[in-house]
Amino acid sequence: MTLSPTRDSEVTPGGPAAARIGLEARAASSTPVTDREWWRTAAIFQVYVRSFADGNGDGIGDLAGVRSRLGYLASLGIDAIWFTPWYRSPLADGGYDVEDYRAIHPDFGTVAEAEALISEAAALGIRTIVDVVPNHVSDQHAWFREALASEPGSDARARFWFRDGKGPNGDLPPGNWPSSFSGSTWTRTMNPDGTPGQWYLHLFTPEQPDLNWDHPDVRREHEDVLRFWFDRGVAGVRIDSAALVAKDPELPEIDGEYAAGQHPNLDRDDLHEIYRGWRTIAEDYSGVLVGEIWLADLKRFALYLRPDEIHMAFNFDFMSRPWGADGFRAAITETLAAHEPVGAPATWVLSNHDVTRPVTRFGRADSAFAFDAKRFGTPSDLVVGARRARAAAMLVAALPGALYVYQGDELGLPEVEDIPLDRLEDPMHFRSGGVDPGRDGCRVPIPWTNDAANAGFSPDGTDAAPWLPQPADWARYSVTAQQDDPTSTLTLYRRMLELRRGDDLQHGAFAWQDDTSDVIAFRRGALLHLTNCGTTNVPLPDDADVVLASGPLTDHTLPADTSVWLAVHSV
Ligand code: GLC
Ligand code: CA
Repeated sequence: MTLSPTRDSEVTPGGPAAARIGLEARAASSTPVTDREWWRTAAIFQVYVRSFADGNGDGIGDLAGVRSRLGYLASLGIDAIWFTPWYRSPLADGGYDVEDYRAIHPDFGTVAEAEALISEAAALGIRTIVDVVPNHVSDQHAWFREALASEPGSDARARFWFRDGKGPNGDLPPGNWPSSFSGSTWTRTMNPDGTPGQWYLHLFTPEQPDLNWDHPDVRREHEDVLRFWFDRGVAGVRIDSAALVAKDPELPEIDGEYAAGQHPNLDRDDLHEIYRGWRTIAEDYSGVLVGEIWLADLKRFALYLRPDEIHMAFNFDFMSRPWGADGFRAAITETLAAHEPVGAPATWVLSNHDVTRPVTRFGRADSAFAFDAKRFGTPSDLVVGARRARAAAMLVAALPGALYVYQGDELGLPEVEDIPLDRLEDPMHFRSGGVDPGRDGCRVPIPWTNDAANAGFSPDGTDAAPWLPQPADWARYSVTAQQDDPTSTLTLYRRMLELRRGDDLQHGAFAWQDDTSDVIAFRRGALLHLTNCGTTNVPLPDDADVVLASGPLTDHTLPADTSVWLAVHSV
């Protein structure tokens, strides 16, 4: 791991300092699986199934691969796994185009294997969260095929948004809503006799027709799907694109300002009633709902987190901020303030399967994340990026609330930016006319070992090419390359997650220590967290012992781009 900084001998992780202040962790196996409130402080690991581990040697990640790596996940010290969609799907959008919610994608396995996985993980103290996509289904879903085979105006079409086209021959789209994936949001259908037919709405790709949530079947079906997976033992559901689901039935053009809750397709007031219904079902199973909610207005965001709605939602405000003390501090303050009135925990997210890997992002001159800013050839200093990604990991792990870790971030993987163009699969790339590199670069199969073919992504002795090519030097980030190295990013994550299970980071009161300088400083109980976002070394306080640091400390100072956890003497 040449990209990772080394810690100097001054830093002795754990030991007496950690024990004295109650940081010393519970053993991973003692996860209180009966604690209904587990999710409030959980560390949740995101598995992108297709790229996590291949169990049968075809180069595609699968449930057998995940099952074979449960020991690894337990050793990381996580509380739950969130699986991106693992259902039967044509994979036009990486599985967010669901053909059948009650079937596992045949490349990944079977429902019986999913059940086995859920219970094997539970035996290790790890809960399972599945991903449900209420905004749309695949164009191969039985409902959409039925709709295409049915007449305009039929009930089968009313589950979606079918409209006649504009213009004399109906050959102009019915509207001009922008797509989350660029390009048009309307696609024309073909009638069974081969003549051009009606159009249908899709906020994402044409392979993802939007559902009409005013239709009772749509609501009932999703509620059944929730029960189907809760009955199979899952502990929670991630709700995809949760703020886009309800539409103004007139589908008016989007022009100008809207009163809160009245935008034609974003954050509509009607959504709250839908998620209250989901909450009732979740409560029957003590399940938890996690919303994917991209909203700039944190007050509106928090409305979804009221006690009878969604339990928690991803914090994209923090994730979108560039490296820097003022922005991070503002995001933390605003996030905690927005969550407090509704009693929901904040969540902390550095990345996921949709965004640039932190190592690459934080090494860029502009390290903010924005979908519309992604471009090929943006330079990144990966040495700086790796240092900052480690420091940021400790920062988010120290904040109150739930923590999300995307697979591979614990290995310090960079974004893969040189995937051959003819191997890219992400529709975001193609729909941008090739301008946006897309999201494949953070979805490259995980390196497990340093000697085997495919960096051990597939089982020993199989040399199938992974579905997305791995860089030639990928093995140096592998788990085996890192697991015994005290300076590796994997070792840092393990120790960090272990310490995070201690009392201070689970329950310690949060208090800012300083709100002006380049050093982010706050207390969690008897733990003092510091992140140096400036450019010069900063002296560490004398009355505190180092518990863990994200990089080398020199002469009792905290270098730039480094975080440290300190045990404070005078509590
Ligand atoms: C969410 C998912 C993303 C997907 C989109 C459409 O944003 O995280 O991967 O493409 O929804 O379902
Ligand atoms: Ca496989």
